[in-house]
Amino acid sequence: MNGEGVTRERWLAERRADPWIRMAKKEGYPSRAAYKLKHIQRLYSIISPGDVVVELGAAPGGMLKVASELVGEDGLAVGVDIKPIHCTGDNIRHLRIDIYDPSAPKEILKLLGHVGCDVLISDASPNLIGIAEIDTMRQLDLVIRCCEIADEVLKDNGNIMLKAFECPELTRVDRVLRSCFNNYKRVTTPPSLRKHSSEVYLVGIGRWRAPIAPLLKTALG
Ligand SMILES: C[S@@+](CC[C@H](N)C(=O)[O-])C[C@H]1O[C@@H](n2cnc3c(N)ncnc32)[C@H](O)[C@@H]1O
Repeated sequence: MNGEGVTRERWLAERRADPWIRMAKKEGYPSRAAYKLKHIQRLYSIISPGDVVVELGAAPGGMLKVASELVGEDGLAVGVDIKPIHCTGDNIRHLRIDIYDPSAPKEILKLLGHVGCDVLISDASPNLIGIAEIDTMRQLDLVIRCCEIADEVLKDNGNIMLKAFECPELTRVDRVLRSCFNNYKRVTTPPSLRKHSSEVYLVGIGRWRAPIAPLLKTALG
């Protein structure tokens, strides 16, 4: 067997052994990430019934399904990704676009009927190359891009939840986000749920100061 076969076999064995993947399959969620949003929702109630939620980096759709359950039939859950999203429902919409595409915020707003969203979450991740410094910086860049999009689509008093990797620069991001939201926390999910040990979510409740992205860019130099 060649090296690729061994790697694929190990990957399949790891998937079969992962209790979160088994539970997601049993409960009808397209991915184990569903339980990360459930964990954060239990702690901070970032999503309420009737909300409009936008998720950036939503494929295959585990978190999106949870968001659609939380907002209920009076709300809307919009998933944005370059890959196909495997989660459908009356209150779910998809947008297939690269979030770095300059037209992404406009396309999201068009889908929302130009009224903005109550909650913006991002679980977007670059393809990890295994070099920590590069992976972490690319993840940080996604955080900045998500804040640029939030500046255009998030309503006043809205909430965010953005995936990042622990790094020294995150202290400066914390400072900016703390100054823009009524309540701000860095949240880690249970270790068994994380694929990347330094994964954290930046959770902001009640945005009262905007725009955020220019402040972040200045703080990060
Ligand atoms: C960890 S997965 C998201 C899992 C998802 N939250 C769920 O619950 O199933 C990360 C996603 O980010 C997406 N992504 C990464 N960079 C992106 C970009 N520039 N634009 C759009 N999507 C992106 C990837 O395509 C991938 O589907």
